[in-house]
Amino acid sequence: MTNITQPSNLPIIDQHSSPKCVRVCQNRTCKKQGAVKVLAAFIALPIPGVTVTASSCLGQCGNGPMVISVNLRLKPICQR
Ligand code: FES
Repeated sequence: MTNITQPSNLPIIDQHSSPKCVRVCQNRTCKKQGAVKVLAAFIALPIPGVTVTASSCLGQCGNGPMVISVNLRLKPICQR
């Protein structure tokens, strides 16, 4: 039986002191779906205290330009 009470080796992240950031995938599939414009929009409209960066594949290829936020709540916007 595995002892699951041992502490993890993963770093403990204090979400209250960690920086807020937005990452926009700039990999091939997301670029085909407009990720360059999405990143440009985030950069053009900066959010105080939030860092915006390009990212590699976020593992959701084909689901539109993927954006993740870290320590930040974004409201989803869907346009159909
Ligand atoms: S290419 Fe963007 S999530 Fe994979």
